[in-house]
Amino acid sequence: MDWGLRNRLSRIIKPDTGHTVMLAVDHGYFLGPISKLEDPAKTIEPLLPYADAIMPTRGVLRTSINPHINTPIVLRVSGGNSIVGKNLADEGITTSIEDAIRLNVAAMALSIYVGTEYEHQTLLNLSKLVNEGEKYGIPVLAVTAVGKELAKRDARYLALCCRIAAELGAHFVKTYYCEGFEKVSGGCPVPLVIAGGPKLETELDALKMAYNAIQEGAVGVDMGRNIWQSEHPVAMIKAIRSIIHENATVKEAHKLFNSIKKSRKKAA
Ligand code: R5P
Repeated sequence: MDWGLRNRLSRIIKPDTGHTVMLAVDHGYFLGPISKLEDPAKTIEPLLPYADAIMPTRGVLRTSINPHINTPIVLRVSGGNSIVGKNLADEGITTSIEDAIRLNVAAMALSIYVGTEYEHQTLLNLSKLVNEGEKYGIPVLAVTAVGKELAKRDARYLALCCRIAAELGAHFVKTYYCEGFEKVSGGCPVPLVIAGGPKLETELDALKMAYNAIQEGAVGVDMGRNIWQSEHPVAMIKAIRSIIHENATVKEAHKLFNSIKKSRKKAA
């Protein structure tokens, strides 16, 4: 791996812990203005100090994120689909490498849809993006998307997706947490982060998921809704950080969540 590429990756996956808390805010690219992300700037700003990296599209980056920040950007560069369209898996590359460079990104992110009608197309998108990324020293995050078929999120399927992504050259991979996650992490030779998925019933559930993922081989999270759809997003991202970077147990992280929540309520 070239120096520039390694340097960019180490801005995202922190070398002192080997872990990362990425904040995903790219949902609008196919979901539109979903709850709590209607005004991206308002959602993102208070969370930025606690994110090791942030994952927006170029539209949200340019309109809603202050260019003075030092937080590394993992730019979503795939899309062309929507939640009401014919097929969620029908994605292309939406952003040129020149624009990614202009935006000074630390990495580029793209979804693959293994097992769908668009498997071939999205895997070639990934290969093409890796070729471009390698040319300029920009790492690629492959996102193993499942579209609407949530039933597919088992270890066998996700292990297949993650391994294929790594084989095609992805420098790190984002996938879902599942039962038997060691099978997924054990078969993937590049770092893995987990998505949070739709908002879970309680914050405790999301903390448990992050804890289990770290114990079972993930290097961190790229979490969105379970942070910013919480009634207490700052408390939540801080609690997640304690698990990812400070070896906190679920109980400790939950206690931290509750105490930050209380103190912020008092201050308000
Ligand atoms: C999916 O590909 C979206 O683009 C999100 O980046 C991803 O799902 C992570 O966010 P969440 O934790 O809300 O699932």
